[in-house]
Amino acid sequence: MSPADAAKVALDPGQWGHPAGEACVSCHLKASSGLAAQWQASAHQRAGVNCMDCHQATAADADAREHEGQVIATIVSPKDCGRCHTQEFVEQQGSVHAEAYAIIKDRVPALAQNLTGAAVQAAGCDQCHGSLVKVRGDGSLDPATWPNSGIGRVNPDGSKGSCSACHGRHLFSKAQAREPEACVRCHAGPDSPDKEIFEASKHGMLYASQRDRMNLDAAQWVAGRDYTAAPTCVTCHMGAAGKLPATHDVGLRNAWSLNSPVSQRQLLVVLEDGGKLELPASAPVPKRGAEITKADGTLGKVKSVGTPERRRQAMSMVCQECHGKPFTDAFMKQFDAVVDLFNGKFAEPARAIMAGLYAQGRLTPLPFDEPIEFTYWELWHDEGARARHGAAMASPNHTWWEGMYLVGRNFYSRFLPQARAAAGDRSAALVDAQLTGDHHQWLTDPAAGNPILGIDIPLGTDAVEAPR
Ligand code: HEC
Ligand code: HEC
Ligand code: HEC
Ligand code: HEC
Ligand code: HEC
Ligand code: HEC
Ligand code: HEC
Ligand code: HEC
Repeated sequence: MSPADAAKVALDPGQWGHPAGEACVSCHLKASSGLAAQWQASAHQRAGVNCMDCHQATAADADAREHEGQVIATIVSPKDCGRCHTQEFVEQQGSVHAEAYAIIKDRVPALAQNLTGAAVQAAGCDQCHGSLVKVRGDGSLDPATWPNSGIGRVNPDGSKGSCSACHGRHLFSKAQAREPEACVRCHAGPDSPDKEIFEASKHGMLYASQRDRMNLDAAQWVAGRDYTAAPTCVTCHMGAAGKLPATHDVGLRNAWSLNSPVSQRQLLVVLEDGGKLELPASAPVPKRGAEITKADGTLGKVKSVGTPERRRQAMSMVCQECHGKPFTDAFMKQFDAVVDLFNGKFAEPARAIMAGLYAQGRLTPLPFDEPIEFTYWELWHDEGARARHGAAMASPNHTWWEGMYLVGRNFYSRFLPQARAAAGDRSAALVDAQLTGDHHQWLTDPAAGNPILGIDIPLGTDAVEAPR
């Protein structure tokens, strides 16, 4: 191991190289030769970090087991890796990735229990978001909750996430994690179509055609210095660029929340205990030293607050390693304008209409028992997310055909007719009153043949819902 590499690892090398490790390798080269061979080819093997250095446990650990004369645990959690890689561990625990299980807890009942069935949770949601891992009486892991390498998995030791979500085991390579493939098994499909968007962008085109110039195996990987051919997901969301350091907190450089019914610019509140939370920029900026309630209900002290402007500046520093400042600023203006348009024209009126229908008892509170609830969900969650992500990451196809075009079609030809049907006699107050301002003016223009908003809009065949 080179001195530079050693300096990155928090633990003293005298603390690893567990004597029981040899026996594990020699037997596992027969018992599960693939994973043992991967370890043999890894940076860990070269540095003398063996099976026991990661898998050792104490009898007090919830998932500890006796195995061939040693006490081991199958799960090597982020906290276990953090013994040696403290900085990556702290950054990863403070990131939105670590909260990916927490954010779905409330949604699982509607989506994965009522709408479909509990069987999809383990093989579906949990594979991306992570599970609450349960340990059975004998120390073995409950198959309803394991295996998965979900990004926010709650481990038996209380730490969150899984480092092997991105670093395939047992190679644990940084070169492999720099590739877009490390991200896209989760970031693909309707609500996070980043795979499709990246591939359709000029960046993705250049990456695919010039992969051999990406220098992925380099010890250091600084954009604009160690490679210039194209950025990958990691370049923009995690990688080092100029003076901007690399980070395992993927959300740090994002100014917006793009996967919500209405997008908001976000403050990043950093707490003294290393935790972080996001607040909408419309909320009052919390003062340094103030106490604030965290997602888990406990209190934390504010250390610093990153404004959306500061976060945007960080992202723009990445672009500016390969592009000029005027180009970067103009691109960001085009992107922000699409988000503002989505919010003002579609997302805010649709949210207000839904709230009115619920408040007036025109819809039941139960999610997904009425067609309009699917329509509204798809409006922001599918086409709405595609449009916003497309504009953020430069795929014109997703911004328009797969995005805003479908948002417009959905809003006018499905959502509004269904909302009017549900509102019945209160249609003018609950629906049309939300469609004020310039955005929907075109519908009231007599020359366009629609003198009265709403009356002449064709109802799609799937659009009608019986009024209550
Ligand atoms: C004599 C052979 C042998 C030795 C020595 C051995 N293992 Fe295993 N190990 C196995 C076999 C076979 C399995 C397959 C599952 C089982 O039978 O428990 C296994 C399973 C495992 C599992 C997975 C358990 C699970 O929950 O899926 C881990 C982790 C593991 N071994 C780690 C180690 C470590 C660390 C050492 C060194 C202390 C070690 N093994 C030593 C043969 C061995
Ligand atoms: C750098 C730390 C590290 C080292 C070194 C390491 N492991 Fe693992 N191992 C992990 C992680 C992480 C997991 C994934 C557990 C999880 O999160 O579900 C794992 C899982 C396993 C599993 C269960 C998964 C499966 O595919 O069956 C076995 C068996 C295993 N390791 C054996 C070994 C053996 C044998 C060695 C030595 C040749 C070894 N490990 C070295 C980190 C390590
Ligand atoms: C293929 C991986 C994958 C699967 C399977 C998956 N998700 Fe997600 N989910 C994601 C990703 C990635 C995001 C982040 C989207 C973003 O911020 O761009 C996300 C975001 C979310 C969000 C936050 C906002 C939003 O977009 O709705 C919720 C809630 C959610 N998922 C719930 C679920 C539930 C419940 C299931 C199972 C019924 C599920 N997810 C299945 C990958 C997945
Ligand atoms: C979201 C994907 C992802 C997750 C999850 C992840 N990593 Fe990484 N990791 C990467 C990428 C990408 C790189 C390469 C970054 C670069 O070179 O710019 C990397 C690099 C590293 C490096 C090499 C650092 C260096 O400077 O040589 C270590 C060590 C590391 N990760 C440890 C961890 C640990 C420990 C965890 C869990 C606490 C973890 N990673 C979780 C993606 C991830
Ligand atoms: C006992 C200490 C120790 C533990 C535990 C440990 N590592 Fe490492 N890790 C090292 C050392 C030493 C290196 C080699 C120096 C370097 O490249 O930074 C290394 C290197 C790495 C690298 C860079 C590999 C490359 O391609 O250059 C990654 C990624 C990594 N570790 C991830 C992990 C993950 C994930 C875990 C937990 C599953 C883990 N490590 C557990 C000590 C450890
Ligand atoms: C195992 C699944 C998985 C992998 C692999 C994964 N992610 Fe994620 N990612 C998620 C989920 C789920 C969320 C939503 C989490 C939340 O909002 O709490 C998310 C959220 C994000 C966000 C949104 C942050 C924000 O501000 O809301 C970014 C950016 C991101 N991931 C980038 C990446 C990159 C880059 C990689 C690859 C290096 C990657 N992810 C790998 C599942 C994954
Ligand atoms: C050229 C830089 C660049 C590349 C390459 C890139 N992104 Fe992004 N990404 C951005 C920007 C800029 C945003 C919007 C940031 C903001 O909110 O201000 C964004 C937004 C996102 C979001 C939405 C976060 C939220 O707020 O909900 C996710 C998730 C994401 N990217 C994941 C990925 C993945 C996965 C890849 C690779 C397949 C990727 N990105 C490639 C620059 C990039
Ligand atoms: C590692 C270098 C690199 C980084 C970092 C990078 N790009 Fe690029 N980008 C390129 C290259 C190379 C091209 C292709 C130039 C060309 O032929 O038009 C390109 C093309 C583009 C294009 C298409 C331009 C056109 O004329 O069609 C846009 C838009 C763009 N980048 C925006 C961004 C933004 C925004 C960021 C930061 C979030 C960013 N890029 C980060 C290298 C980079």
